[in-house]
Amino acid sequence: MKNNQFMKKWLEEIEQYLVSMIDGLPSHQEKLQSAMKHVVVGGGKRIRPMLVLASAQVCGAKPKDVLPAACALEMIHTYSLIHDDLPGMDDDSMRRGKPTIHVLYDEATAILSGDAFLTIAFEAICQTKEVEAKNLVQMVQALSKASGARGMIAGQMLDIASEEQSLTLEELKQIHQEKTGKLIQVAMQIGCLAGNPSNSTKEALEDFATHYGLAFQIQNDLQDVLWDSQKTGKETGKDQALEKNTYPSLMGIAGAKLALEEEVMACQKSIEQLPLTSDEQLEAAQFLADSLQYLTI
Ligand code: IPE
Ligand code: IPE
Ligand code: MG
Ligand code: MG
Repeated sequence: MKNNQFMKKWLEEIEQYLVSMIDGLPSHQEKLQSAMKHVVVGGGKRIRPMLVLASAQVCGAKPKDVLPAACALEMIHTYSLIHDDLPGMDDDSMRRGKPTIHVLYDEATAILSGDAFLTIAFEAICQTKEVEAKNLVQMVQALSKASGARGMIAGQMLDIASEEQSLTLEELKQIHQEKTGKLIQVAMQIGCLAGNPSNSTKEALEDFATHYGLAFQIQNDLQDVLWDSQKTGKETGKDQALEKNTYPSLMGIAGAKLALEEEVMACQKSIEQLPLTSDEQLEAAQFLADSLQYLTI
């Protein structure tokens, strides 16, 4: 993955944009700024903003024009992680190989840093100036829907409510599609809104996102069981301790691996459906193909 040219080109730009938004906060907010930088600098795979940039390029747009929207999505994701780790939720002390904000600072700072990322994300997306106003409004709407009670928050609520309860596979799938899938899906939606995709391109990207989102959370579930904290940068074995419903808990390791493989194969198929003509489109599609490496276990 590190050798992917498209990724090499954009990782630095994403981090610079994120840091510049935090640096732009009033100077008396030093503690808030340092907590926000603690979680964001040098950490995270940046898969969601990279998917925005790649899908935009597949749709004929310039990734640079959609960088603020891509970073807005990363900010929402970062907020979701900060709150997910709080004692009232998953109660985790490590994230991205570092202590979580509520451990290093305090709980109030973690709640407020999360709130700050959530709100500054909408400031950021509004800086997407090269996109037509009506498309920008749709981007903001899509981001807000995917993040809130129609999307990620709904999934997080169900995830917490169903601890210590047995779910069916369909119910678990819904949680995964909401808590994790929605933010992946909106990445491609934003990319499509930045460009001018044909119906078949749009359908293939939507399809890719649906399977990628589910696969991403199945892989995350498997990591919690099969990897150590050195490799994940998080505490492991936590899902079982909290009696979470996960793919491994419902169908065993082998069953979860099989389900993951099926979703990855569906992602590959969606990439093959993309009508690609220009070098730029081929480069972006190569990123999508390479990003499947994140789904290996
Ligand atoms: C972890 O997301 C939480 C999920 C929604 C599965 P990532 O695995 O993308 O976390 P970072 O951004 O790389 O730390
Ligand atoms: C994370 O789900 C989903 C969101 C933060 C929205 P998990 O709780 O399963 O992810 P990790 O294991 O903490 O990264
Ligand atoms: Mg959680
Ligand atoms: Mg968690």
